Formats: sequence, structure tokens, C-alpha cells
Amino acid sequence: MTTTATLAFPEGFAWGAATAAHQVEGNTVNNDWWAREHTPGSGIAEPSGDACDSYHRYREDMALLADAGLNAYRFSLEWSRIEPEEGFVSRAAIDHYRRMVAACHEFGLTPMVTMLHFTVPRWMDARGGWRHPDAVDRFARFTEFSLPIVADGVDWVCTINEPNIVSMIHGRRETDLVASGLPAPDEAISEVMRQAHVRSRQVLGSAPALRTGWSVATQAFHAEPGCEQQTRDYGYPREDFFLDAARGDDWVGVQAYTRTFIGPDGPRPIPEGTETTLTGWEYFPPALGIGVRNAWARTGGVPVFVTENGIATADDQRRIDYTRGALTGLHQAMSDGVDVLGYLHWSALDNYEWGSYRPTFGLIAWDRQTFARHPKNSLGWLGRVARANALGPADERVGTP
Ligand code: BGC
Repeated sequence: MTTTATLAFPEGFAWGAATAAHQVEGNTVNNDWWAREHTPGSGIAEPSGDACDSYHRYREDMALLADAGLNAYRFSLEWSRIEPEEGFVSRAAIDHYRRMVAACHEFGLTPMVTMLHFTVPRWMDARGGWRHPDAVDRFARFTEFSLPIVADGVDWVCTINEPNIVSMIHGRRETDLVASGLPAPDEAISEVMRQAHVRSRQVLGSAPALRTGWSVATQAFHAEPGCEQQTRDYGYPREDFFLDAARGDDWVGVQAYTRTFIGPDGPRPIPEGTETTLTGWEYFPPALGIGVRNAWARTGGVPVFVTENGIATADDQRRIDYTRGALTGLHQAMSDGVDVLGYLHWSALDNYEWGSYRPTFGLIAWDRQTFARHPKNSLGWLGRVARANALGPADERVGTP
């Protein structure tokens, strides 16, 4: 998709980037993923280790985003730091995340806080994770524990990141989440996710200014000729169930990367010769516009927040091309009437991609030895789009920021 005109976005549109605790903080030693990374025979390519050390360097990360021109930052709380043992709340961890919220404001970034981005404390995992009868209560209580972080200075809270992916991977021990495809969701877990979301929103309702929702991995299912019904049947438990559950929420998060073709026997492999990214996914920028339209239609008009969109590539110009294509499709959906509140790029930094550091999604690279940050051209480019609140013509070339 190319643009010849400048595409303006509405006043107040949020432009930012997103991260998740386990993928950037480093040493999240007390969660289920860390345990798995250190289980002999798990087959995980490499452990998360120090990650980007953003637990200590978050101010530097935020400053780079803000200096580039972005105005929003989405990050997640690490439950295993806040409640390291069942019922024990770490005041120091609460203070840490409060400092992160304060730093966002200091740098002019609107914070969006995700309560749960895949990882659970070891104690929660040991009792069966989301399968334990008290799981929903435990998540509601964790939300309560976290109220001091979000009750003051935060407008946007995402209860659960990609509950549909959680439901597909829960209890499974795939070694590389990003490359594992989409196993059938566990419908019992899907329902637990829905209830956990509802309960968490109720707790967050005690801070009336908060605008709460959850974020769904949209997958742009494409039906092969004659496979429309199979596609609906395949897509419902993997995407639409979770969008339907967002009806009545303040907003719904869309996280779009690629598309999936559905044939008579389910998902089809990517045809040979198709451009793929470092996660093995098809390069397909229109996925965002499609995901946003589907979310809007299924929820009956709940405002959409793009909470993730991006590409794993070592070619930063390709990242810019992809993002331009995605934003063009997004703008088209908005012109057609979809209410979109903002765009948060995945990801602020190259990060731990659930098993490996190889797929690089970041606007910022960093040195594995020194942790020194190296902003990429794509950060400067997205920052300029944010400052202009508009996407310029496609032939506008980008130099070093
Ligand atoms: C997740 C991120 C992940 C990204 C790219 C989303 O599924 O929320 O944690 O890194 O996609 O794989």
C-alpha cells in the first residue's frame, strides 16, 4: 500500500510504543517463564537473563521515546514482583511501578498499564495456573494490590494481554511461543480469562477515571474459496470470542501482525516465495486495518486502541515500510468510521521474544554487554509521524534521526 497524500490523524491521538515486563526488565526470576527457561530439556533457545535491564533503565527508555516525539508508553506490571508469595505484597515493587508512572508524566508520555502480560508468579503456576478454582479471585486480588499504582496518574489500564493466546498456550510447553503457531484454544481457560477480565475491571472501577479494556491478538483470517464457514468456525474461539467479551468495555486493544489463510483442513502454510519476517510470519501490513475493523464490528462500536503492531526484522527500512503500510490501513479504517484512540508500536526495544532474542521488533537496539541504547531510524521516523500527527507521502525518505 502506498500513499500519495498526507494522512492526518485526529487531535489527541496517542502515539507510542509498548513493552512487557518479562521481555525487557531482566531477572524476573520468580515467574513461570523464568522457571521454564531454566528447566533442563525445555528446548528454549536462550533464557531471558538480564533482558534489556529496563527494570533499572526505564527512564532512559522513556526519554528516548519522548525525545523522538512519541507521547505514550505501554508497559506491564510483573505480578511475581508485586506478589512474590501468595498474599504477600512487596511495597518496594509497588513503589517501583509508581515511579514508572511518575516518570512517564515527567517525560510527557501518557502511560498505559497492562496488569498481566503472560507471566504469572511461580506460586500461581505451581497450583495449576489459570486452572485453579481460585485463579480468578487471585487475579482480582492482585488487581486490588496494584490499585495504588494505577489509581493516580493513569488513564488507561489493560487487564490482560492477549487472553486468546493465553488460552492457546496455557499448560502447553511449546518451547518457542512465537514460532509455535496457533494450537486450539482451551475453552475452559478462555472462559476463565473472560471472568478474570470482568472481575479485574470491577476492581479497577473503584478508580472511576480509569478507562479499562483488554487487548486481543487479531489474526486477519482469510478464507480460501469455499471455506468461509470453516474460517468462521476456526476464528471464533481464537479471536471473536474475546472481542465479543469486550462489548461494553471502555476500549478494546488490537494487536495485529500478520494474516492466516484457512483452507478446508484449517490453516494453510505460507506459500513459498512469500516475504516472511524473523518470526516466520508473512509480511502483511494490512493486518492492522483488518484487525481494527473486525474489533469494531464484533464489539458493536467499542473504541479501539492499537496496543501492538510491528515487525521482527533486521532491516530497519522494512520496519518503516511495514509501519507505514499498517498506518495507511488504519487511517482508511478510521476514515470509514472506526473510532481509534491511538497507536502503540511493538516494540520500544528489541526484546526477549519468548524463547529467543533473535526476532528483533524494537525501535531501539541495545548492546548485550553494556546495555547501551541505540535508537534506530524507525524511532525517529515514527516520532516525526507522531509530532506531525500525520503520515506524510510515501516518497518522503527518512534520514538518520
Ligand atoms: C505479544 C508480545 C510478543 C509479540 C510478538 C504479542 O503476541 O503480546 O509479547 O512479543 O506479540 O511476538
